[in-house]
Amino acid sequence: KNIHYFDEAGSSNDIAKKLAPTAEEGTIVVVEQQTGGRGRLGRKWASPKGGIWFSIILKPKVALSAASRLTLTVGLSVTNTLISYGIDAKIKWPNDVLINGKKVSGILTEVEAEIDTIEFVVIGVGINANMSLKDIPEDLRENSTTIRDETGKSIDRVDFLQRLLHEMEQQYIRFNTQPFSEILNDIIVLSDTIGKDVKVTMPNRIVEGRVVGISKSGALLLKKEDGDVEEIIAGRCIYTK
Ligand code: BTN
Repeated sequence: KNIHYFDEAGSSNDIAKKLAPTAEEGTIVVVEQQTGGRGRLGRKWASPKGGIWFSIILKPKVALSAASRLTLTVGLSVTNTLISYGIDAKIKWPNDVLINGKKVSGILTEVEAEIDTIEFVVIGVGINANMSLKDIPEDLRENSTTIRDETGKSIDRVDFLQRLLHEMEQQYIRFNTQPFSEILNDIIVLSDTIGKDVKVTMPNRIVEGRVVGISKSGALLLKKEDGDVEEIIAGRCIYTK
């Protein structure tokens, strides 16, 4: 119940956004393949058959500024699910999951809010599962990988999705009942980004430095050359070394 399945769709996030105003919290849209998969910052997201592409509708009673914490929490859930298969997965701030330093999953969170109150959040999760990097157009490969390319094996996608949805439910209960610092502790342990030298691109500027932590609000703490630590709420993060 509350799971919508499509053989083919433009983007599961778009379907979820249409359903969201009247949908129950936890409603899910799963698609076999997307013809218009979207990534962050207006990028395209290759979504061929064999991957896991879905969106979930949530209606958290939190301020708009908490949405990025929700994205990190979903990233933790994806990472924990991969780890449950014995795969050494790590979290790259703000929304990627890596295996062997390469991106295996991305999350696209879209929020509908009235002033500062969230009406709904659509969280789109893409996992490069039983496919090969060769199935992704060259210009979209970037530094990506797939579960099959990394482990040499395919996973049971239904089993994976069941585990992931269970894990997301547990983490969402935590999100709603505990201080975010509890979830953050787990994220920090699994973070690939802390300690790295990075360049963060924002709409109007670029900052470089070494990542020294993630703040309670989910922001990146970047130590710059002059020694100052800057809190970065959102941006595109690229490792420089
Ligand atoms: C990113 O890393 O840029 C985010 C990628 C998010 C991809 C998923 S696949 C399911 C959902 N539907 C979309 O169109 N995008 C997200």
